[in-house]
Amino acid sequence: MGLRHFLTLDDLSPQELHQVIHRAIELKQLRKNGEINEQFKGKVLGMIFEKSSTRTRISFEAGMAQMGGHALFLSTRDTQLGRGEPIEDSARVMSRMVDIIMIRTFEHSIIQRFAEFSAVPVINALTDSYHPCQLLADMQTWVEYRGDISGKKVAWIGDGNNMCQSYMNAAECFDFTLNIACPEGFEPAAELLDRFSDRITLCRKPEEAAEGVDLVVTDVWASMGQEDEARERRKAFSDFQVTPALMDRAVDDALFMHCLPAHRGEEVSAEMMEDARCVVWDEAENRLHVQKALLEFLLNAR
Ligand code: CP
Ligand code: NVA
Repeated sequence: MGLRHFLTLDDLSPQELHQVIHRAIELKQLRKNGEINEQFKGKVLGMIFEKSSTRTRISFEAGMAQMGGHALFLSTRDTQLGRGEPIEDSARVMSRMVDIIMIRTFEHSIIQRFAEFSAVPVINALTDSYHPCQLLADMQTWVEYRGDISGKKVAWIGDGNNMCQSYMNAAECFDFTLNIACPEGFEPAAELLDRFSDRITLCRKPEEAAEGVDLVVTDVWASMGQEDEARERRKAFSDFQVTPALMDRAVDDALFMHCLPAHRGEEVSAEMMEDARCVVWDEAENRLHVQKALLEFLLNAR
């Protein structure tokens, strides 16, 4: 099959995405049964982090260890990347030494340039524009709770950020419709609104977006790299909190997801985090299982 990357959900066909999710569910069960699977023995994952992480780092690192492989944590502070070594050179060097690489960085073009020069698969572990690994975990969580998401309605409440943009992408790959409620000036990229216009409705009121949907999703108001805008954003987003009352507008068996970390009192109320419809802990755990399935898919594709 040749070299495959996972920079956005578009890099896998819908059928391959479903295959990865079903394999994740299988791997999760095998782990619960105590079965040892060391198929990554001798394999090394390079993990480049230009931004902080709890879930992504732990899930990739633990996932590699559980499957007999090894993961290297490479912060830009301690590598020559932080001292200006070109992305293209770093990609050529690192990919001669490890079997697969994940990157969390700022501009999406950085990961695109890295992938262009990499001899091994590259995984997007979050850029300013997309967070496709989180979408795999979210879709796995949906499948586990409710089955097929095809034909369902999803509401995105809040910032038109990297998570929102991956949800737009997912709407097409997984065949659902998406209502996006965001304040003026915080919309996702115009080209994505245009590309996915047949599946997406842009609203200004969270109540309108949540009406009759099956899944409600939100994320922080200020993403990593936007710390300076946090005050201004708190003002702009003050009406965009997900609460049990907002969830009551959705269908009776609706679910609530959040990629975490959550800011209680901002994008989500403390009460909502304890609500029976909130599945964020399973969603977080599924990063582990689905990324193992993704690593397996990309390593076997070679
Ligand atoms: N959801 C997510 O990617 O979490 P981290 O920033 O902790 O990795
Ligand atoms: N939108 C958030 C997601 C964190 C997992 C950020 O980019 O900081």
